[in-house]
Amino acid sequence: MFKVIIKDTNEEVSRAAFNVMKEVLDSKPNPVLGLATGSSPVGLYKEMIKDHEETGRSYKDIITFNLDEYVGIPRDHEQSYYTFMHENLFNYIDCPEENIHVPEGNTDDHEKACVDYENALKQHVVDIQVLGIGSDGHIAFNEPGCPFDSETHLMELTEQTRSDNARFFDGDINQVPTLSITQGLGSIMRAKKILLIATGANKADAVWGMLKGEKTTDCPASILQDHADVTVILDRAAASRIA
Ligand code: F6R
Repeated sequence: MFKVIIKDTNEEVSRAAFNVMKEVLDSKPNPVLGLATGSSPVGLYKEMIKDHEETGRSYKDIITFNLDEYVGIPRDHEQSYYTFMHENLFNYIDCPEENIHVPEGNTDDHEKACVDYENALKQHVVDIQVLGIGSDGHIAFNEPGCPFDSETHLMELTEQTRSDNARFFDGDINQVPTLSITQGLGSIMRAKKILLIATGANKADAVWGMLKGEKTTDCPASILQDHADVTVILDRAAASRIA
């Protein structure tokens, strides 16, 4: 079931997202957080850092699982999702490194990396899963056509996703990896609660497909129609086709 919140500014979107996150953080000392990379959750992570600094909330007992990672670039690459998470959140809170999980995209045995990650994830129940949405309707890196019951797997990125993400690679699509390791749609659906953030006009069609379209693997995010607890936080541009 979807709860949709529409805000005017990015700051309001981030604060509304943090309010949802805060309920989970307040509910127990050791929640399991499913985290995403990309532009959409950055404001939320800033609010979490501010909360840590200003209220003294400790994150030392949280456990985190990220959604995805590029294949073929090392963890210390400036655009790896491992680096992204440290630069945008982990370096500024007191979550110990051993509690942090990001898929390993730089290995000789990708199949094993997928199985190991899914097995580690299955040891826990994710209390809240943060998501963005791709302009092609992907969540994590589950591109159109991906089965709804998929678990952690390798995924070839679409041209559209690589073009969207070229902004992080000097605007050069050729530098964007072609392959990723990603939690599957089935993995994501196991989370107790989903918090999806989308801003900007280029997300309007995908947001419509997720909320109002047919449930189809052509729009992977439409699987969320089957989830019991999804909060979607949008700005007006991303909500332009639904409001
Ligand atoms: C990132 C991820 C992706 C992004 C999506 C939107 O971990 O899983 O699904 O959430 O590509 O990216 P942004 O937020 O940069 O528009």
